[in-house]
Amino acid sequence: MTDSTRSSATDRPPAGADNPERAGIERVGIERVGVVGAGLMGHALAALFAAGGCEVVLVEPAAEVRRSAPARIVATLASIGGGAELLERITLAERLDPALERAEVVIEAVREDLALKREVFSELDALLPPPVILASNTSALPITSIATAAKSPARVVGTHFWNPPHLVPLVEVVQSELTSLETVARTMELMAAVGKSPVHVRRDVPGFIGNRLQHALKREAIAIVEAGICDAETVDTVVKDGFGARLGVLGPLEQSDLVGLDLTLAIHETIIPALDRSAEPSALLRRLVAEGKIGMRTGEGFRSWTPEQADAVRERLSRTLVEQAAARRAAAGS
Ligand SMILES: NC(=O)c1ccc[n+]([C@@H]2O[C@H](COP(=O)([O-])OP(=O)(O)OC[C@H]3O[C@@H](n4cnc5c(N)ncnc54)[C@H](O)[C@@H]3O)[C@@H](O)[C@H]2O)c1
Repeated sequence: MTDSTRSSATDRPPAGADNPERAGIERVGIERVGVVGAGLMGHALAALFAAGGCEVVLVEPAAEVRRSAPARIVATLASIGGGAELLERITLAERLDPALERAEVVIEAVREDLALKREVFSELDALLPPPVILASNTSALPITSIATAAKSPARVVGTHFWNPPHLVPLVEVVQSELTSLETVARTMELMAAVGKSPVHVRRDVPGFIGNRLQHALKREAIAIVEAGICDAETVDTVVKDGFGARLGVLGPLEQSDLVGLDLTLAIHETIIPALDRSAEPSALLRRLVAEGKIGMRTGEGFRSWTPEQADAVRERLSRTLVEQAAARRAAAGS
């Protein structure tokens, strides 16, 4: 890994053409990527693009975060089968200018704060003329409200990665009211070239697609507990051991087509009137948060957690995601 104060990735030729993983990005013609913010998401995005064969400039103003970045990136690379030598493809920089100057795509991963993101996009817009693509990894802010900070908003797009971004395949590529279809198409090509599963979100709606689905399920899960139908642990068992066991291979609409829309309609006639349809967060959720019961971090949320139990959940999640990513790589290589 280099520091932009000493040398820059832009001074070097692109990572060696003998790297087989570069085939994808060479086809797309995007080889230099900027990432702004080296926190939880940004450092992993840098690792992901370096492993995909790109030269990466990773911008991070906080000295402490910059110092810890190489070790965090090496650990992240290891979990996707990449060696520490890939650090050579990443240049760490303290500020936007000048290290980013030859980036073809820049992905912003700073704190979830609209004013900060608008500031970053205004600076990026001034520094890098079109057709450089400017992408935001915002979880929930409207892409349009970020894009209007740029004079050329047609090249601004959402790239909603899921944590951890190097292991979860999905990237929601969000088209704002101002994004060009060319920007969406190029962004989708880049994501696919580094092994992601990009989807086009055609409208800039709250929660995009994935979080709307996830939180519709959470609303009903909480309502079931609130109504005393079962406890939280039972809800989780029903999801994990029931329909969750097949969700990874069968989406809800595929499953409807599989069993028949006539059956789906018949079930909906009975169930839909009984489902929770509150237009605001549940009283139970509000009460738990007000009491400081926010989950594993405080030892109690919907369920009670010892530190050991919480660690075991984190370990199981991480191990499973790493194994799934390895299986996908093996399948792609076979
Ligand atoms: N954490 C998640 O699970 C998750 C999932 C999907 C999307 N996101 C989104 O990704 C973005 C980043 O989230 P995170 O969890 O990585 O945050 P984080 O707080 O871990 O990291 C943000 C980093 O940005 C740096 N930063 C602040 N101002 C900056 C600037 N002007 N230029 C460059 N860097 C700057 C900070 O020093 C920090 O290191 C947020 O928009 C978040 O909503 C997060």
